Amino acid sequence: MNHAVRISPTPATTPLKDSESTRHMALREVLKFPDKRLKEISTPVGEITDEIRQLAQDMLDVMYDEPGIGLAAPQIGESIRMVVVDTDWTEDDAERNPLVLINPEIVERSGKLSWTEGCLSVPDIEADVERSESVVLRATNLENDEVVIEASQLQAVCFQHEIDHLDGVLFIDRISRLKRNLYVQRRKKQLRRELEDA
Ligand code: NI
Repeated sequence: MNHAVRISPTPATTPLKDSESTRHMALREVLKFPDKRLKEISTPVGEITDEIRQLAQDMLDVMYDEPGIGLAAPQIGESIRMVVVDTDWTEDDAERNPLVLINPEIVERSGKLSWTEGCLSVPDIEADVERSESVVLRATNLENDEVVIEASQLQAVCFQHEIDHLDGVLFIDRISRLKRNLYVQRRKKQLRRELEDA
């Protein structure tokens, strides 16, 4: 997800140590609407294996490359309950603070706000979405520790948006039917053009 925070131009990169070695490898492809895999309900992560750790790294690589501030596993075709989020690094020179959240759940919510969201999987649209203003998120990290995070504003919106992905819900499912239909038509036209040009 890149939300309202368009990060342009590409910020000065301070890559994660681990991603240095993978920088020249092909990044995983981000699935785009209307890919049906984005509508699936993802399954919980069981044991944290090397495969899961590698997937988390792949997700971070994609997120920072796009750039975005969050990414859910189903967006790269893995239907499991894991998301990565970093809402700190959008400022110039800000440090990266990646969160890897496994089996994340929102256990408390309060307040309401409207936030302009976008999504790496839903090209060329941003729209206002109603969300809870503050949430408490519970998840497991890669070390298998339980983490509880109180979040508000951007980070709270990001958590809600990413967890929606795990339930097959896109932010355009939370806007008016009229706006969504207009977008779907526009997107279909765009895809037809891409096919014709190919
Ligand atoms: Ni998204």
